[in-house]
Amino acid sequence: MNGGEKFIAVVVGVLLVFGVVRSITHVEEPHENDIPFYTTASPELASKATDLYRDNTCRSCHSLWSLKDAMQSVPAPMLDGIGSLRTEAWLYDYLSAPNPQLILPSRLKKKYQMPSFAKMSEADRKLMASYLASLKVKDWYLEDTKKLEQEKLTGVDAPK
Ligand code: HEC
Repeated sequence: MNGGEKFIAVVVGVLLVFGVVRSITHVEEPHENDIPFYTTASPELASKATDLYRDNTCRSCHSLWSLKDAMQSVPAPMLDGIGSLRTEAWLYDYLSAPNPQLILPSRLKKKYQMPSFAKMSEADRKLMASYLASLKVKDWYLEDTKKLEQEKLTGVDAPK
C-alpha cells in the first residue's frame, strides 16, 4: 500500500468503528431526545380545538404540549397522549356527561374536579373529542413507562 491507500484504509476503518459504536450506543439510549407525544389531527382541526381549549379554560387545570397556565395549581391529568388511552366515543360521552364523576370518579374537592361541558354545543363537543382522540403517545414511551413502573413495584430490572 502506498501512503494514499493507507490513509484511505485508516479513514474507512475509523468510519466503520464509529458506525458500530454508534449503533450500539443508539440501542442503549434510544429515545433520549424524542418527544413521545404527537397528534394525527389536521392543522384545521388542531387550530379550532386550540381555540375551544382556550375559551373553555381547560388550560387553567390541564397541561397540553407542556403549556401550563402560570396560575395552575390543580392536579388535573395532563392531556398529552390521551387519545392512546381513551376512544373518541368515550371522550365525547365524558364531555357530554352532566356529571363526569359518574364516569371517572374523583377524590378531589368539587372546585378542582372536571366540570361538566354538557352545555357546550354538540358540534364543539364532537370537535373537542375528535381532537383529544388524535393526541397520541408513541408505543416505546408506553413500554418504557410500564417497564419503569414494574421495576419500581418489584425492585427487579425488567428484561431488556
Ligand atoms: C376545574 C379544573 C378543570 C377544568 C376547567 C377542565 N378539567 Fe378536565 N379534568 C379535571 C380533573 C381534576 C380531571 C380528573 C377527573 C376528576 O378529578 O374529576 C379531569 C379529567 C379530564 C379528562 C379525562 C382524563 C383521563 O384520565 O381520562 C379529559 C379528557 C379532560 N379532563 C378534558 C378537559 C377539557 C377538554 C377541558 C376543557 C373543555 C377540561 N378538561 C376542563 C379538571 C378540569
